[in-house]
Amino acid sequence: MTYKNKNLDFKKLRPETQMVRGGTIRSNFGETSEAIFLNSGFAYNSAETAESRFNGEAPGYVYSRYLNPSLKMLEDKLALLEGAEAACVMASGMAAVFASIMCQIKTGDHFIASKVLFGSCFHIATKILPNYGIEVTLVEGTDHKAWEQAFKKNTKVVFIETPANPNLEIVDIKFVADLCKKNSACLIVDNIFASPYSQKSMELGADIVVYSTTKHMDGQGRTLGGCVLGKEQFIKEILLPFHRHTGPAMSPFNAWVVLKSLETFQLRMERHCENARKIAEFLENHPKIKRVLYPTLKSHPQFEVAKKQMLNGGAMLAFEVKDGKKDTFAFMNRLQIIDISNNLGDSKSLITHPATTTHSNMSRDEQEKIGITESMCRLSVGLEHVDDLISDLNQALNN
Ligand SMILES: Cc1ncc(COP(=O)(O)O)c(C=O)c1O
Repeated sequence: MTYKNKNLDFKKLRPETQMVRGGTIRSNFGETSEAIFLNSGFAYNSAETAESRFNGEAPGYVYSRYLNPSLKMLEDKLALLEGAEAACVMASGMAAVFASIMCQIKTGDHFIASKVLFGSCFHIATKILPNYGIEVTLVEGTDHKAWEQAFKKNTKVVFIETPANPNLEIVDIKFVADLCKKNSACLIVDNIFASPYSQKSMELGADIVVYSTTKHMDGQGRTLGGCVLGKEQFIKEILLPFHRHTGPAMSPFNAWVVLKSLETFQLRMERHCENARKIAEFLENHPKIKRVLYPTLKSHPQFEVAKKQMLNGGAMLAFEVKDGKKDTFAFMNRLQIIDISNNLGDSKSLITHPATTTHSNMSRDEQEKIGITESMCRLSVGLEHVDDLISDLNQALNN
C-alpha cells in the first residue's frame, strides 16, 4: 500500500494555494485530509537504524519532543506563509518568544526591546533577563534617536512588537533592522498583532519572526501554540538544540488543529481586517470615544510608517472611552455580542481592558508611561457580520 506525495514547488504558488496544499504529507493510505500523528515515540527496524537517525546519517523522526509528522506539516506550511527558510513550532507564543531570545543570549550580553510590550514579554525583559546577568534597555519604539543611542558593543538581541499590544504603537521595522545589521545584532519581531496577512516583517529586514498560533492562525480559540521563523541555519544550529533539550514542544494534536485552520487563513483574515477597518471608522466618529488607534486611520500617530510597512490595518484595534475606568467597565458590561476576554484572534469578537488584565503585571506608573490608560479597550475583531458588531458597540456606548 503506497501513496506517492506530490512533488510541487509550493514557493511558486499563491498564498491561498499554499495554505490549502502546502506542507501536506500523506501517509501510505493516501488520506485527503491530513492525519494526526498523536505519538510520542518512533520504533526502528534495527538498532543500526536508531543509531543512524540519532547521529543524523539517516533521515527520519526520533521523538515528538524533537519533531513529528504533524509538527513538520505545520512548520512547512508556516514557513510558506511567512516566506521564511525554516520554522520551529512550540507549545505557546510565550515559549516561542522566550526560546528565540534565550537560545542566543548569555550573561554579559545586552538586550534591547521597544517599551510597549505584551505583559509576559515585558516580564521576560524586565524580570527574567536581568536575573541572568543580561543588560536590558527599553527604548521608546517610535524615537529614532533613542534607537541609535541604545546600541552598545555587546548588543546581541533586539525585540520589537509592532503593532504593539495593546496600543498598536508602530515601530519602523526597516529602520531598526538596518541598525541591527550595522551593530551585528539579531532582530526578533513579534508579528502577532499584524499576522502574516498584514505584515511581512522578514521582507522588511527582521532576522526572526515569532507568532502565537493561539491567535489568528488557530482562529477559533481552541489551542495554544507558537512558532519561530527564520533562516535555516539559525533554526537548525541555534534554536533547535535549545528547543530539543529544554522541551517546549507543541502537542501534535494542537499542530493538527492549526494546520487545518490555516487552510482558511487568507479568507478569514480578509474578513477580520475588513470588519476591523469598518469598526475603527465607526468608533472614530462616535461622540463617546476619545480616540481610536488603528494603523490605517490617518489619526494613528504612526500612520505614515504603517502605510509604508503594513499591507493593511490588521484585525486589532484599541480605543479610549470618554471618562474613566467605571464608565469603561460599564460600557464593556453592556456589550451583548462581543465577549469580555483577554484572548485575541478568535472568530468571536473579544474586548479586553489591558490595564487590569493583560498588562496588570505593570505598575500604573509603567502603564501610564506607555499610554495604557484606565479607559483603554483593546478589540480583537471577529468574523460576525460587521453591522451586528457596530450595533452592539453603539448600544453599549449610548446606553
Ligand atoms: C504580542 C503577544 N506576544 C506573545 C503572546 C503570547 O502568546 P501565547 O498566549 O500563545 O503564549 C501574546 C498573547 O496574547 C501577545 O499578544
